[in-house]
Amino acid sequence: MPRHFLTGGELTSAELESLLDRAAELKAARLSSRVLEGKSVALVFEHPSTRTRVSFEVGVTELGGHAVVLRAGELQVARGESVRDTAVVLSRFVHAICVRTGPHAMVEELAAYADVPVVNMLTADHHPCQALADLLTLRERFGDLAGLKLAYVGDGNNVASSLLVLGPKAGLDVVVATPAELAPFATPTGAEGPGRATLTTDPAAAASGAVALYTDVWVSMGDDMAASEARRALLAPYRLDEALMEQARDDAVALHCLPAHPGEEISEGVLYGPSSAVFDQAENRLHAQKALLELLLT
Ligand code: CP
Repeated sequence: MPRHFLTGGELTSAELESLLDRAAELKAARLSSRVLEGKSVALVFEHPSTRTRVSFEVGVTELGGHAVVLRAGELQVARGESVRDTAVVLSRFVHAICVRTGPHAMVEELAAYADVPVVNMLTADHHPCQALADLLTLRERFGDLAGLKLAYVGDGNNVASSLLVLGPKAGLDVVVATPAELAPFATPTGAEGPGRATLTTDPAAAASGAVALYTDVWVSMGDDMAASEARRALLAPYRLDEALMEQARDDAVALHCLPAHPGEEISEGVLYGPSSAVFDQAENRLHAQKALLELLLT
């Protein structure tokens, strides 16, 4: 049975720790691994991407493999071929299938029928590859994450859900602060990992004592644009700005998965200021995903 990576829940805490250790090694010695020599990886993008697209394609190349990039409309699935047949056929050609799409059920269906690992490069519900890069970034800044607090403020989107799934596995206490109407898809169960996961509607309480304040855009790909003004009004108290950073620990970092709208969900001063770890996060997509591909394909 192939190992898939759809939500991050597939990894144990120990596996996550080794993956992050390996990502740090690959970052230090970028061309040290050729585990994908002779292997091909399909990268299917049904939605736009800058970081995910480039980091996966470069990562596959650096590991010695070949990336087959397929954009929206290039596969017959766009003309009605079934996801099942697509999964079976791609499995005859490539050694892994990585997908960015809207419905999470689509990656679940692919995984159900694929004979090779399926990796979620973003769905409406989860963005686990982003969370791997986020955790790597925090380990670089703070070392052991056990007992440290990360506060996500804003829209309870796929990024928030993946932090709730993977953060506690790395030992973080993850607090997600959203308006009640925009609570995340992933609901904490109390069994996430050594760390805890909690939801609140109070951004200041979430930020209090945190080592990382994290936010994302208020209107994501796939959100109802007609309702965007109502969302912005709901989310205005959740802006990641200098005042919210004051609530966090003195050495706290600001995180954002990008693309950002400075002045909306995050102030320009925080995004580009001394506390920002945002561009390390973006770079760490590459290193974390290379470690993930090694884990799934060897
Ligand atoms: N953070 C992220 O997934 O960026 P892209 O949409 O540019 O891939």
